[in-house]
Amino acid sequence: VIDIRKLYAQTSAFTYDPGFTSTASCQSKITYIDGDQGVLLHRGYPISQLAEQSSFMEVCYLLLNGELPKQDELATFSRTISRHTMLHEQLMTFLRGFRRDAHPMAIMCGIVGALSAFYHDSTDITDPQQRMIASHRLIAKMPTIAAMAFKYSVGQPFLYPDNSLSYSANFLRMTFGVPAEPYEVDPAVEKAMDRIFILHADHEQNASTSTVRLAGSSGANPFACIAAGIACLWGPAHGGANEAALNMLREIGTPDRIPHYIERAKDKDDPFRLMGFGHRVYKNYDPRATVMQKTVREVFNALKVTDPVFEVALQLEEMALNDDYFIEKKLFPNVDFYSGVILSAIGFPTSMFTALFALARTVGWIAQWNEMITDPDQKIGRPRQLYTGPTQRDYVPIDRR
Ligand code: ACO
Repeated sequence: VIDIRKLYAQTSAFTYDPGFTSTASCQSKITYIDGDQGVLLHRGYPISQLAEQSSFMEVCYLLLNGELPKQDELATFSRTISRHTMLHEQLMTFLRGFRRDAHPMAIMCGIVGALSAFYHDSTDITDPQQRMIASHRLIAKMPTIAAMAFKYSVGQPFLYPDNSLSYSANFLRMTFGVPAEPYEVDPAVEKAMDRIFILHADHEQNASTSTVRLAGSSGANPFACIAAGIACLWGPAHGGANEAALNMLREIGTPDRIPHYIERAKDKDDPFRLMGFGHRVYKNYDPRATVMQKTVREVFNALKVTDPVFEVALQLEEMALNDDYFIEKKLFPNVDFYSGVILSAIGFPTSMFTALFALARTVGWIAQWNEMITDPDQKIGRPRQLYTGPTQRDYVPIDRR
């Protein structure tokens, strides 16, 4: 590892590295990825163990505090989060200003940015107490915001949070429940939802997390920084890939059409890519995709449903993994390949998929933001550029051009 800052101080040299393929922008103790081996650890704990054995609240505590909580610490943390689930009534007026067919991600960018205007007592980034309250507020309010964005799009009344339920059950009830009618959350679906949140909780310096850090490096308040992260996550090359992957699987439709799409993905003159395949860091199977694939089966069994797209996904994976192009380029399924199949089985429309990703990633973003704020090496993010425009020239008045 070369510390380019020392070299720069002596020579004004800098690196040209579009897409930051080989430049570390920070030091971090939160998440470790070994892309060649397909390893993902949060604070040292393997993602498969966390997904199988812990809860999303536990993982939130771990990411924020560095250690797994003891029983009483978890109880206190969960209670604190549930105390912050409500949204200010005026925010609902704000939400109703969106067009009915607004994408939930557009609503989330707007509402989360607007939180800065409602919670002045947690925007002083120099105060650790205020930073902690902002972190709790963001984690707690994201399910409420996401559920309301959904309800708004289908024209149903909003449901207020029920803080007697778990984080995931409360979200499912706010999304699928109807006022004045009982809503029973299926425990298997609740567990699957919680696991999906765990699998998306953090992933070190991906595009949206780097965006949150870059926005935060100027001293911007945490709500504004997370809104920036949501905007970045929206793109189809990042969080939007789960929506794009399911749309692709539906378009393929039947296994006999898979070879045609594999050929298209390999054709350099065709912009088509296999969505949910490939990763900047993983050059092996994404460990989150393994858990996700298993969870599809669990949800199908619990709900006694099936979906032909799952068979298409399994066969597409098998064919791609045996194809020289994908082998040579080390392209494997990523977390987004199977997540859409599960979310669709639970009942979410595709437009909500990236919103769910944003909900779950909020804890990672805010943990990384907190780490950055307290890092003594922290500086305003200011990438250099390689200028390729014209050299200096004289201004020509408009009548002589
Ligand atoms: N289908 C077909 N070819 C692909 C795919 C794909 N899904 N992904 C990468 N390739 C090819 C590229 O064409 C490129 O080929 P080349 O070397 O001949 O030019 C090579 O593999 C390397 O790909 P890059 O785009 O240069 O790799 P990069 O690290 O910049 O991109 C990315 C990674 C954006 C994830 C890419 O694999 C992709 O677009 N995948 C589909 C979208 C997707 O699933 N995104 C979700 C990522 S995970 C997440 O954000 C949660």
